[in-house]
Amino acid sequence: MFDLPDADILSTALEHNFWTWSAQAKVAPIPVTRAKGVYFWDVDGKRYLDFNSMTMCVNIGHGDERVINAIIEQAKALPYAAPGMATKPRAILGKLLSEITPANLDHFMFTLGGADANENAVKLVRGYTGKHKILARYRSYHGASAGAMALTGDPRRNTWEPNLMPGVVHFLDPYRYRSTFHRTNPDISEVEFTQDYLNHLEEIILYEDPGTIAAILLESVTGTNGIIIPPEGYLQGVRALCDKYHILMIADEVMSGFGRTGKWFAVDHWNVVPDLMTMAKGLTSAYAPLGAVGMKPEIAAAFNKVVYQGGLTYTAHPISLAAAIANIKVMQEDHIIEHANEMGPVLHRMLADLGEQHPSIGEVRSIGLFGIIELVRNRKTKEPLSPWNSSSPEMAALRKTLLENGLFVYTHWHTVLVIPPLIITEAQLAEGFDILDHALSITDKAVTGK
Ligand SMILES: Cc1ncc(COP(=O)(O)O)c(C=O)c1O
Repeated sequence: MFDLPDADILSTALEHNFWTWSAQAKVAPIPVTRAKGVYFWDVDGKRYLDFNSMTMCVNIGHGDERVINAIIEQAKALPYAAPGMATKPRAILGKLLSEITPANLDHFMFTLGGADANENAVKLVRGYTGKHKILARYRSYHGASAGAMALTGDPRRNTWEPNLMPGVVHFLDPYRYRSTFHRTNPDISEVEFTQDYLNHLEEIILYEDPGTIAAILLESVTGTNGIIIPPEGYLQGVRALCDKYHILMIADEVMSGFGRTGKWFAVDHWNVVPDLMTMAKGLTSAYAPLGAVGMKPEIAAAFNKVVYQGGLTYTAHPISLAAAIANIKVMQEDHIIEHANEMGPVLHRMLADLGEQHPSIGEVRSIGLFGIIELVRNRKTKEPLSPWNSSSPEMAALRKTLLENGLFVYTHWHTVLVIPPLIITEAQLAEGFDILDHALSITDKAVTGK
């Protein structure tokens, strides 16, 4: 198809490509050529078990012919239409999303990915409420464009400050393992723990003045910042605070949506209905780029007479919409959400077993097929295995060993994320955990000296 031998992919790419999130002189990309199911292969034919669904997005697994054929069919029929036009996939996908998302969401704006879904959600809530502030959490990632970076709480935001979107105020997350408020009473009940974090949020709302706050934006289950699973009552409590102070609630389900947690959307675990929901990644399982903002009808209606100022050339791209429809159909036909839900306890048990065997594991957490391992130098002090916003020789060595042994994972600071395609079997999970089990001797050594 293209005139470049596999053996030249890496060298040619290194010569002519610029790499995101990277110091250019330090990149070491895997020259990948094909992928199927839960595996992908490099130019040398080496097979990797994909424990990160590439970028936490290939939810239905690699190489599904049904989605690939839908893309081909759409490319033949109508590869592109102007954003102001109605197309068949656009009509079908809006309807389909209104059926699988929480009940009140019935209008969907299509975007290019997660960052611009969040940016558009901000425009919508500002336009609808006439207020400007957005509250978001510190342990969050909402995207890399300027507005989405401003929403992001983690240090990825800091490089670009102060020239980001104004009006964002951050608050703390209910992160039990490292809870700021509970260092001296870590055994506090879940009810009280939850209430402390809701009180913290309410205090910030009052200081900031509810009359200026358009929305609270939060990842329903936090992704790269630690798979922080909200304690019982937390999301319901945030919803109640939003209602009390006439603030809209935006759930960022870019990573946690489309079966990742064992339900269609993470908010479904707590029956919380947000006013807007942002999506991407699992929406197409990354077979084509697409994001979406779901909104309740009143918000869409607020722009009945007022023009919505926003949109991009590739808004509602038919090929991406066709990929999303086929992807959702695959999830339904193959009962992929149900499978992820069944595999959830299996992953949880494997993580717990690993935690018992390795002194460098401080805590493991998971919900559905969304898991994390926190590595520490000392279980008592919980000192992370790499410093804040950084890596360490042990983390680098762990990652290298895992790759050498054919396991692709995402490591973030002192954590290892386990976010495989949702079609993974128990045997394939065990295959990955076997590699992890052996490689963790590297990090154990940092703790025991042996
Ligand atoms: C929770 C969350 N929101 C938003 C984004 C941004 O999505 P995108 O990279 O498609 O812009 C991400 C990406 O990782 C994410 O995890």
